Amino acid sequence: MGKEIKKIAILTSGGDAPGMNAAVRALARTALYHGVAVYGVRRGYQGLIEGDIFQMNTTDVANIMQRGGTILKTARSKEFRTPEGRKKAFAQLQQHGIDALALIGGDGTFSGAATFFNEFTIPAIGLPGTIDKDLAGTDFTIGFDTAVNTAVEAIDKIRDTAEAHDRLFIVEVMGRDAGYIALHSGIACGAEEILIPETKTDIEAILQNIDRDNRRKKTVRIIVVAEGDEFGGSSALLHTIKERFPELDVRATVLGHIQRGGAPSCADRVLSSRLGYAAIEALLKGTSQVMVGIINDEIVFTPFAQAVKENSKINNDMLQMIKVLSA
Ligand code: F6P
Repeated sequence: MGKEIKKIAILTSGGDAPGMNAAVRALARTALYHGVAVYGVRRGYQGLIEGDIFQMNTTDVANIMQRGGTILKTARSKEFRTPEGRKKAFAQLQQHGIDALALIGGDGTFSGAATFFNEFTIPAIGLPGTIDKDLAGTDFTIGFDTAVNTAVEAIDKIRDTAEAHDRLFIVEVMGRDAGYIALHSGIACGAEEILIPETKTDIEAILQNIDRDNRRKKTVRIIVVAEGDEFGGSSALLHTIKERFPELDVRATVLGHIQRGGAPSCADRVLSSRLGYAAIEALLKGTSQVMVGIINDEIVFTPFAQAVKENSKINNDMLQMIKVLSA
């Protein structure tokens, strides 16, 4: 049995994701319920290195559930990637008498955590917070549902104007090197093509489909492309399509950071609340150095390095379904 946890620090790191605030609230309220003092770290690992740490009480997390972004702010810290940076971070934890850490973030956060906890010993637990849904050990990550709904709303609007002008639209969505936002938003919007990094993009087949559609006078088409697709995203695609079909009316839209903002969906609020509560309950019982996730409605724990390394798998049935439905 390790040392009793009396002071816990919470940080959000990497790209923000809608629902992070709900997760901070759940972590803080559960810890406070158990009589554990709660500290917030501003700007992720960078704030930890700089000692930007403050005590939080229950009112600090009131009225934040419905807000996008993160009240703790977030950052991608270059310094934390260095041994000196991590040493400073640990020194700050000791100086503030912090007994345990709760981390909310994506794969950069947990790769950093895996290295940090190899070097220094302190109980820690992670919550998957990323719109990209690119972590193993959970069916959904905090922020994915909201981001994908934002993308769906935007693509529906794009279809209206595409319809009015008889245009082909290419819509680029986020996801870094993962295709989940593209896959889910593309299916939900009835996209004619969905291009994701996990599968090879057959550009010749796409051009042939466009040609076939031109001949059968199908003028309105939506292609959803993940920003990390190996073919090169919306501008490369626009260029290639225009080269082959100079007369075709084509536009490209990059949805960008709107996908990261906005009020979290109900699903994200519930997910964040469940994960935050489960994380503290587990941490106080001695579970540590793992990310907490939900698979098939059950709470599961995955070591940080494994959550990052294995990545979640694209469902092959879904890929086959797209081919059938988009014809
Ligand atoms: O990881 C979340 C994410 O939004 C990715 O989808 C995207 O590639 C990246 O962050 C953008 O990062 P930044 O906001 O630093 O430009």
